[in-house]
This record gives sequence, structure tokens and C-alpha cells, in this order.
Amino acid sequence: MQAEHRQRREVLMSKIGNGTAIFRSAPMAVMHNDVEYNYRQDSDFYYLTGFNEPQSVAVLAPHHAEHKFILFVQPKDREKEVWSGYRCGVEAAKEIYGADEAYPIDELNEKLPQYLEKAERIYYHLGRDRGFNDTVLRHYQQLLRTYPRRGTGPVAIEDTAHILHSMRLVKSYAELQLMRKAADIAAEAHIHAMKFTTPGCWEYEVQAEIEYIFQKRGAMGVAYPSIVASGANACVLHYIENQRQMQDGELLLIDAGCAYGYYNSDITRTFPVGGKFTPEQKALYEIVLAAQKSAIAQVQPGNPYNLFHDVAVRILTEGLVELGILKGEIDKLIEEEKYKPFYMHRTGHWLGLDVHDVGAYQYGEQPQILQAGQVVTVEPGLYIVPGTEPAEDQPPIDSRWFGIGIRIEDDVLVTATGNEVLTAGVPKEVKDVER
Ligand code: GLY
Ligand code: MN
Ligand code: MN
Repeated sequence: MQAEHRQRREVLMSKIGNGTAIFRSAPMAVMHNDVEYNYRQDSDFYYLTGFNEPQSVAVLAPHHAEHKFILFVQPKDREKEVWSGYRCGVEAAKEIYGADEAYPIDELNEKLPQYLEKAERIYYHLGRDRGFNDTVLRHYQQLLRTYPRRGTGPVAIEDTAHILHSMRLVKSYAELQLMRKAADIAAEAHIHAMKFTTPGCWEYEVQAEIEYIFQKRGAMGVAYPSIVASGANACVLHYIENQRQMQDGELLLIDAGCAYGYYNSDITRTFPVGGKFTPEQKALYEIVLAAQKSAIAQVQPGNPYNLFHDVAVRILTEGLVELGILKGEIDKLIEEEKYKPFYMHRTGHWLGLDVHDVGAYQYGEQPQILQAGQVVTVEPGLYIVPGTEPAEDQPPIDSRWFGIGIRIEDDVLVTATGNEVLTAGVPKEVKDVER
């Protein structure tokens, strides 16, 4: 993988020319008092370096005579390592991670200027670490002040995101291997959860079964807090309390994915707790499934990004009209967004190092055109929130639909000739999710 991190740095450096790019590691997150969450490196930082320690800074200075890639890291410290584990240290930052030069992080203020004073601009993405944002600004201001006597130095700060994130959008073979693994583990967990679930189960029990498989198969952890939503809880899009006991006759919506080698999967399945759909549940489920399949068919190289969403919206809207939940002419209902009370989210997002991965969906008015190597989720749903009032000029909603929430979500790779559903192993046909 080191060769690939190096190659990514080279591509980025070729695009920033006489600039210097600065990247900050992710901050530690506090759970309570002096206890911290497991550390997870910032995705941009990881993408370019593979380096997974906090309190670090990576600098890319393509125009610098000797050092193009510089790491500032936590120095080796025997006592601190006894408490909180191995640190790579300054020397190994060069040997293992390929830095041309490395320094202890304490020397940042002293050593950074030499990499900035001949740069035409600084590339930096304002991040969560406010203190570090200030550090970068302070260096920038200092260089601006002394510009007249030097005659060189940065005259602008530019966000790195648009360059780096368009690189991250297209996954390499090695990245796809990790994404396949994340998808396989989550697929196994969903299949297991379907078998495990029976009336009387608690949502947290099902969550435990899913996350047991994540952990057992070597995932880093959950990709996001697992959503195990029975009955009307499924109408809360990001329900994560997972504290309810489920009943026969209800649906269970599980939206759960894992991170493997920093890459994420994101799967949703909805199935009957007791093994059989009610007629209302089945009618809505079949609409969502048809919408999802037709949307997946539009994940093709050359198609505009928004096409699969538009196709899903059309099929969902047609279905709601057939069931009498909406009334009117399809095009007009879509234009007036009359489906929105029942379908309030988009049909997908980029997937990768971040669950809602980086990368533009459109450039001004122009949508992104799908290309091989991109990975999207396709996740239409219908949610009939109890007590929903009909929109103006729409019929009252029959209470038999209330409390039904359905979403079906797969992870789809754009290939050269079409697509590949990375999560195809998890059943979703009516006959396969019934028992
Ligand atoms: N699990 C979050 C999402 O589906 O986007
Ligand atoms: Mn999801
Ligand atoms: Mn998703």
C-alpha cells in the first residue's frame, strides 16, 4: 500500500505545482473525562500517507529542493508508549512511510516556514481542529508580512478539497479490495441478523448480533451507529436508540455497515419480524424494491449522477398513486415534490473512506458524470410517519399505512461496462426475506 500512497502524493503534487499542501491528523475525540474514543485518522491524511497516529502534520512541497514530503509526528517516548501504545517516531516516519524528512511535532512552528516561503500558495482544508487552523493562518500572515523583503511566498490559501476529493472519488484496485471486504462482512452480518430475528427480540440484541460479526471478521468497527428500527421506529431515518422489543406483524429495518481497512460499507434491509408481510407492508415493499432495482440499472458509466435518484422518485411516486396514497398526474406530483412527506432523502451518496464520501455531485448546474471506479449507495425508501397530514389537494392518508417504514440499500460500483452490486449477497426479494 505504501507505493500507492506515494503515487497519490505524486498526483496531488503534480496538480499543486508551486504550492505547498498541509494536512492535519484527526483530533482525538473524548468519550468522557480523560477517556478517549478509538483513534481514527482523518481520511485525507490517511489517503495520502497511510499514517494512523494523532498529533501529526503532513506537508507536500513539490517545489522544495530536497524535501517534497515531510511528516511532523509524535516523537518516541518510552513512558507515554507504556500507557497509550506504540508510536512510530521520527526515524521510522521516514523509513516506513517514505517521508523525505520528519520532525517531532513540537518543532512544527520552527520548521514549517522553510516549506512555505517559496510556495506560491498554501493548500489547506479548514478542518475540525480550530487551533491548527489558527496555526496555519498565523504562518500565512507572518509570510505575508515579510513578503516584501523576500519577494516570494504564498499569496493565497486554497482549499485542497476540490483536487484531492476528485482523486478520492475514483477507487483503485487496492481500495476496491478493501471495499469488497467491508461489503462482504456487512452482508454476512445482515444475513445472520435476518435469521436471528424473531418476534420478542429486542432491537439491541439484533444490533449485538450484527456487530459481533463485524468484530469477529476483523472490521475496524461500525461504519456509523447501527440502525435497528422495528415498527414505526423505521420512520425515523437515523434511529439509533435500538431499545424496543419487536412484535410479530411488524417490519424490522436494519441499516448497518462496517469499516474494514478504513473503507466503509452501508447496507439496509427491511423484512418482516414474524416472517410474513402484511398486505400493506408487501405493497409498499414491492414499490421500494422496484424503485431500487430500476435505480441500480441507471448506475452506469456516462450517466449523470442524479439519474438514478430521478428514476427512483418516479417509481415511488407511481407506486404511491397506485395505492391511493397520492392522487394526481405523475409529472406534476414529482415537480411539486408531493412524494416528499413519504420520501424525504436522496437515493444515494458516494461511499469510500467516509460513509458519506467526499467528491462533487455536480459542478454548478452540470451533474457529475458517473465513471468506472466510483462507488455509490442506492437506497430508496418509503416512510409513512403516523399522523402525517395530507398535503394540500391530496387525499387523507388511510391509517392502515401508518408506521410502515421501508428502505433497501446496496453499495454499487460503477464498472467500465455497467455496474457491480458489492452487497448483492444479502437477499431482498419478497420470497427471500419472508420465512
Ligand atoms: N447509514 C447512513 C446512510 O445510509 O446514509
Ligand atoms: Mn445506510
Ligand atoms: Mn447510505
